Amino acid sequence: MAGLTMTKNAVVTGAAGFIASHLVDLLLDKGFSVIGIDNLRTGSIQNLVEPLKNSNFQLLKEDICNKRFPDLVKEDIDVIFHLAAISSVLLSVENPILVNDTNVVGTVNVLEMARKHDVERFVLSSSAAVYGNPESLPVREETALNPLSPYAASKISAEMYSISYGNLYGMTPIIFRYFNVFGPRQENSEYSGVIPIFINQGLQNNDITIEGDGRQTRSFIFVNDVVEATYLGSQLNDASGQILNLSGTDSIRILDLARLIKNRIPDSTSNIVHRDAREGDVKDSIGSMERTSEVLGFSPTVPFESGLDRTASWYRSHLD
Ligand SMILES: NC(=O)c1ccc[n+]([C@@H]2O[C@H](COP(=O)([O-])OP(=O)(O)OC[C@H]3O[C@@H](n4cnc5c(N)ncnc54)[C@H](O)[C@@H]3O)[C@@H](O)[C@H]2O)c1
Repeated sequence: MAGLTMTKNAVVTGAAGFIASHLVDLLLDKGFSVIGIDNLRTGSIQNLVEPLKNSNFQLLKEDICNKRFPDLVKEDIDVIFHLAAISSVLLSVENPILVNDTNVVGTVNVLEMARKHDVERFVLSSSAAVYGNPESLPVREETALNPLSPYAASKISAEMYSISYGNLYGMTPIIFRYFNVFGPRQENSEYSGVIPIFINQGLQNNDITIEGDGRQTRSFIFVNDVVEATYLGSQLNDASGQILNLSGTDSIRILDLARLIKNRIPDSTSNIVHRDAREGDVKDSIGSMERTSEVLGFSPTVPFESGLDRTASWYRSHLD
């Protein structure tokens, strides 16, 4: 494992979102001063109730696509965690221009902020979507990229811009390719991940809707593990151009996931039903964590079923 150095002032884009709000919690716990930036497109102030009580945290309600974005922050910045994005494959098929503006143009703006502030470390949250349907699983970082959706293309583009800024300005990017992340605060909408959708359908006694035959597989990683690894990456001494998977270690079929969730909500009268498969979705997805554990000395710690319990009870206590 490489040596660690301490950085103190962090900018977190997409701070009001699912993953970034947990990262803000962790950074504040570690004594960082954090500037969160979010336009509240899908993010929620509710996710930042605790940080907003902390004098080391400030929230800027701004859009990363704004032309004046690179000059927004006046304070020194040691590290930028860039998580703001539109993270829906479905929406990217429906509205590729919006997703390109946010995920590509927005990323260039955030990189420009990093350049102007001479930041030491730029951490990009990319996605396993960049691999498409790889020939062999678990997929390794050196696998050829194959975007199956505008979302995947936008994430590849964001990665390439980050690497180019690293090469030009020495800001040592580190790129995480997140697989399926789950946990409390994940948005529940038709554009979101499958776990909040199934849990909320179960809690509200609606049909649990599987897209396709349900034989597609995913590997889920709990959000606390994701933000811990993302933080560790930011502390590496030399991470230039480093690309790391963050994946769960087991695969589960979506059909089995639906059953597992239904069993967790014993009073639910929901039925499990099927509808058409989503365009642009991959068939199977699990990442190799070999490089990540070698570079970061990190492996996921939260077992899937206990993460699922924590997530289900969070949604239960946050039912509309
Ligand atoms: N959730 C997953 O399983 C997963 C998997 C792979 C990659 N990722 C990546 O991780 C990051 C965080 O994802 P998430 O699941 O927390 O999504 P999220 O939608 O909860 O968070 C994204 C945040 O970015 C904000 N945002 C969107 N457009 C913005 C703009 N123009 N200006 C400022 N803020 C803007 C949103 O309001 C939201 O708070 C994204 O980059 C996503 O692509 C997530």
